[in-house]
Amino acid sequence: KTALVVRAEGVAVNPEIRKNEDKVVDTVVVTELSKPVTAYCRCWRSATFPACDGSHVKHNKATGDNVGPLLLKKQ
Ligand code: FES
Repeated sequence: KTALVVRAEGVAVNPEIRKNEDKVVDTVVVTELSKPVTAYCRCWRSATFPACDGSHVKHNKATGDNVGPLLLKKQ
């Protein structure tokens, strides 16, 4: 497998999510998780951002990128 790596200065990593905000920051306060695993998007392609919806799979196939979610796991 050949990975295509594109480094583009001046190109936004976030194509469309919450562009009306100066900086997109999400805070997760965890005292107890209701589910065994909760996934948060880090590819900026999720339709349910900040939750991961699996869109990183399509993005990775199309670009050769290797991004994936942040997983919060219940101990
Ligand atoms: Fe973005 Fe999964 S959809 S990391």
